[in-house]
Amino acid sequence: MIIAVTGKGGTGKTILAALLTHFISKKSNRVLAVDADPDSNLPDALGVAELVTKTLGEIREVFQESRDEMGSMNKEQWLEGKIYSEAICECDNFDLLVMGRPEGEGCYCFANNLLRGVLRKLMRHYDYIIIDSEAGLEHFSRKTIEGADYIIVVTDMSKKGLATAKRIKELSEELELNFKEIYLVGNRITNKEAEETIKKFAEENGLKLLEILPYDEKIAELDLKGLPVTLLPEDSEYMKKVKKIADHFIELSVKVR
Ligand SMILES: Nc1ncnc2c1ncn2[C@@H]1O[C@H](COP(=O)(O)OP(=O)(O)OP(=O)(O)O)[C@@H](O)[C@H]1O
Ligand SMILES: [Mg+2]
Repeated sequence: MIIAVTGKGGTGKTILAALLTHFISKKSNRVLAVDADPDSNLPDALGVAELVTKTLGEIREVFQESRDEMGSMNKEQWLEGKIYSEAICECDNFDLLVMGRPEGEGCYCFANNLLRGVLRKLMRHYDYIIIDSEAGLEHFSRKTIEGADYIIVVTDMSKKGLATAKRIKELSEELELNFKEIYLVGNRITNKEAEETIKKFAEENGLKLLEILPYDEKIAELDLKGLPVTLLPEDSEYMKKVKKIADHFIELSVKVR
């Protein structure tokens, strides 16, 4: 099951992706978290930044520079080996892959084609893949999220947050991405009126409202101290609701199987 967390910038995607990884990996030891934001911060949110040695982008660069000297060596095998030994970070209960920055100048088609095959193979080792996406919509038009089963769009109470959610729904139809479901999650919602607005918005736009998360001052506190969000107390309203989201996906995957 591939779950991609998307939405406008700064709405709380990374925190939600980190906590879904945290909760789901308590129930399954086959969880892969993917940081697909070039401005990577999922490892920090999970508190495992020191374990990340290389990004997928860095391995692609090394490959691009040295492929001419590889001669008859099996290049796919080389990439596969590098990814497993250097880019997949084995954390407590889950693995983590950081995509890194996009490619430099030159033609990366060959590298990217090989990478696609290796990643497809790699993904089969996991029951749950949780992707923290880059803000906005560009990755949708590039179809990098094509393989996701479920999309979570995180929005705050801003007009722009809701507009991005609407556009994601429209784009996925235009591009025929065929997600099993596009969910909406409201975050940092502080009053009933805002809650009602989001509920109405979801109904009107054919998005399934998954949860409405409150503002939690402890999140900013941890952020300021550079501590991982996984340290949030499990009895807080925010954490209880995120756990409910995680349980929803676990239940769904049991049903599908
Ligand atoms: N429910 C919440 N209560 C309080 N603060 C929050 C909440 N959710 C997120 N924040 C704060 O909002 C900021 C952005 O959160 P986060 O990094 O998860 O967003 P993002 O959508 O991943 O951002 P970006 O688009 O830059 O990747 C963080 O500083 C975080 O501390
Ligand atoms: Mg983020």
